[in-house]
Amino acid sequence: MLTSTKELLEAAQKDSYAIGAFNLYNLEGAKAVVDAAEAENSPAIIQILPHVLDYGGSPLIAVFLEAANSAKVPMSVHLDHCDDDTMIKTVLDSGIQSVLADGSTLPFQENLAFTREMTELAHTKGATVEAEVGRISGTEDGMTVAEKEAKMTDPEEAKEFVAEAGVDFLAVTIGNVHGKYHGEPKLDFDRLAKIRQQLEIPLVLHGASGLPANMIQQSIDLGVCKFNVNSEVRKRYLQFWREYGQTESKRDLLDCQKEVTSAMQEVIAEKMRLFGSAGKA
Ligand code: 13P
Repeated sequence: MLTSTKELLEAAQKDSYAIGAFNLYNLEGAKAVVDAAEAENSPAIIQILPHVLDYGGSPLIAVFLEAANSAKVPMSVHLDHCDDDTMIKTVLDSGIQSVLADGSTLPFQENLAFTREMTELAHTKGATVEAEVGRISGTEDGMTVAEKEAKMTDPEEAKEFVAEAGVDFLAVTIGNVHGKYHGEPKLDFDRLAKIRQQLEIPLVLHGASGLPANMIQQSIDLGVCKFNVNSEVRKRYLQFWREYGQTESKRDLLDCQKEVTSAMQEVIAEKMRLFGSAGKA
């Protein structure tokens, strides 16, 4: 059943677990999340990225909303990393109830103004907003430590930002990166603890692909209620089709669609168990 992200995250926060938010591209992705969520009796979030929305448009939004609504477990649909106010308005009008209003490339005050405007808009529609203070990127591993530090979430700034923008959830940057971690991931848990001391709203950690179980648990203990996952599921999807392409297979396409869905379902179900959301629906 379609539920709000706020409701899902508040329940997770209260009971010390986290919800997986899975970036999806198509029907197979939606089925994989629904199948995993139902099999694990877990709540879940379907996420869509702006460039995927540019491609799939309203038909894809309809697929995701209906997948969530017809699921036997609570699920929400969330727009990830959007800096485009027109897209945010369109998405909110279409029935998606939460967005990441991403002004993180902007200087602090401009990020604040953009996020505050989007939050006011979302709240008038009964929707909620995630914001990002600091900047998560996929190329941070190539930077010097000093540059990397400068992009991490500052706890005091985060407090001011949340109070002034009125956002509902905050994505933190504590050494997490989108995509592949080169070497052991290094998360700054002292920083996360300081952010937690300043804020009571649910915290979000992007770049959950590749994080080991102990770091996932420590993040949950320090207030993370939502983990964003893309790369590991996408990798499994692409791996299936790569292997398919290397064989002379004349298999039915629908059988392949079913098989790739189960392959993604396995990865997603494992994340649900890792995040502690299995059994919480
Ligand atoms: P990964 O691709 O590292 O799982 O990160 C996904 C993400 O954070 C999307 O916002």
